[in-house]
Amino acid sequence: MATVSTKYTKTAVILHWLIGFGIIFMFLFGWYMEDLPKEAPKVMSFDLFDLGIYTWQLSAEVSPRTFYFNLHKSLGITILGLIAFRVFWRLTHPAPALIKTMKAWEKKLANATHHALYLIMVLVPLSGAAMALYSKYGIKWFGIPLAEGLGDDAMRDIFKNAHKIIGIILLVLLGLHILAVLKHTFVNKDGTLKRMTFK
Ligand code: HEM
Repeated sequence: MATVSTKYTKTAVILHWLIGFGIIFMFLFGWYMEDLPKEAPKVMSFDLFDLGIYTWQLSAEVSPRTFYFNLHKSLGITILGLIAFRVFWRLTHPAPALIKTMKAWEKKLANATHHALYLIMVLVPLSGAAMALYSKYGIKWFGIPLAEGLGDDAMRDIFKNAHKIIGIILLVLLGLHILAVLKHTFVNKDGTLKRMTFK
């Protein structure tokens, strides 16, 4: 008889942490970008996020806004690819059953949050990509042109608002998700977090 796994596959664990931290980083990146001045001199090198850790050299002069917007789009598209693979993996490798000690309402809330997280996790980068597509700039992936900009300001503004609002929903869900893990780890002490590790 086949045994039912109590843990996620190694691939699911790697994707979970890579995408989780990737998304948190993209939020911080998005907020950093918003504060960049509209008018600033073009330069050929950037001290990444002004941290003094890595200086990015370019072959042509660009404004800080162009540089960071393009980087946000490139990383966002990469994370979207990882999310697409994660959805495929989840559909072909069912998650292990939730732990037995959870109450029925906890199981329902956990399942609903996990499904909503999958949906919203896809919609945040998709709305960003749609905004970039309708802008006059289009989408480049680390310098490789993926799509020309359509230059439709009305549609760009719709997706710009969507990117913000769906982003806030993702933050709320992520907060709920993290609070639940903290409760299981420190209050119930039921080993829930271990299911998403290699141990
Ligand atoms: C992976 C998930 C992503 C997250 C979590 C994310 C997050 C954010 C955040 C927090 C902002 C600032 C919004 C604000 O408060 O004003 C932002 C702005 C932006 N994002 Fe994303 N983003 C993601 C993916 C993408 C992708 C894939 C693209 C395009 C290919 C993109 C394009 C943009 C652009 C162009 C802006 C600037 C909007 C403006 O002010 O004109 N994002 N993003």
